[in-house]
Amino acid sequence: MSNKLTIIQPDDWHVHFREGEMLKAIANIPSKFNKRCIAMPNTNIPITNSEQVLKYRGQIYENVLNDNFEVLIPCYLNENINLKDFKHALINNFFIGGKLYPIDVTNNSSFGISKIENIFPLLEILEEEKKILLIHGEKTADEVKIFDREKYFIDQDLKIITNKFKNLKIVLEHVSSAYGVDCVKSNKNMAGTITPHHMLLTKKDLFNNDLLDPFHFCMPVVKDEKDLVALRDAACKDNNNFFVGTDSAPHHINDKKPNFSTKPGIFSSFCSIELYAKIFEEEKSINSLEKFLSINGPNFYNLPLNKNLINLEKIEWTVPEFLEYNSIKVKNFYGNKKINWKVTGLKV
Ligand code: NCD
Ligand code: ZN
Ligand code: ZN
Repeated sequence: MSNKLTIIQPDDWHVHFREGEMLKAIANIPSKFNKRCIAMPNTNIPITNSEQVLKYRGQIYENVLNDNFEVLIPCYLNENINLKDFKHALINNFFIGGKLYPIDVTNNSSFGISKIENIFPLLEILEEEKKILLIHGEKTADEVKIFDREKYFIDQDLKIITNKFKNLKIVLEHVSSAYGVDCVKSNKNMAGTITPHHMLLTKKDLFNNDLLDPFHFCMPVVKDEKDLVALRDAACKDNNNFFVGTDSAPHHINDKKPNFSTKPGIFSSFCSIELYAKIFEEEKSINSLEKFLSINGPNFYNLPLNKNLINLEKIEWTVPEFLEYNSIKVKNFYGNKKINWKVTGLKV
């Protein structure tokens, strides 16, 4: 097998850029080798209108050194959104689509949706304008265990959406279960993003001597071996409807505590491309890496393929444990561990 690999420059269809000092600290990591990133709108005050999105886009560009980088932002869907402004922002590509956060499923989702019917007018506009609905696919209820929230959302709310909006294109983000994989496969207008950590971790990695490991805690939570296998198969061997979305979600280490009330989110940007390469090689599918990282995403979003290329080489390196910048300290996913692939450069 070759020790070098050249592929079309990738994108990352799900990243948290955050704001303020954290944005400054991390902005140049996902934007270094990716051409485009979708920046999630679950900022402290969610991004819900034209004015906010233009301001946030500007803040991200101000902090990114790479002039060729492009950021795309979806609208945080909410019952109070002004429909005229929403449509205007979609038509002018201020928003790439709409992001559905069911209420109280993850960080800053308290402004999310409690009853799916309440956002039907927004979904209608998305469908009309041929824009994408991005979904954090989980739903909570007292009787539903944390590991079953994805299935519960699919069976309850997602069915309502797909029945009513037959032409709406949907990305089920950070798919975490075999059930989620099957759901994506059985809907022709649906695609799924898959994170590296959901293909590397199971429940067993979530607990360390009975204590929750906060650096392996994210929403949706990592699940069983059978789910990990289904996700690896979908990413490496499946059709065209699964693609990269790291859900790289930085938190200061002080916000990470060993219990379920800690902030969920895994910061993987520092080594995400390399982790995908490692996984695809393990699955004997390194030749499909380019499809997953650089082709399926733009095809689904109806955007052009990137013109530049990146090089990867078989070089062993150790991921640094932390990212430190002024008062910010974030733990890197895979920190202190070795990876056998390294991105060695961009070929313009
Ligand atoms: C994300 C975050 O930290 O904003 N956390 C996570 O566990 N994935 C939010 C999200 O994408 O659900
Ligand atoms: Zn999410
Ligand atoms: Zn996320």
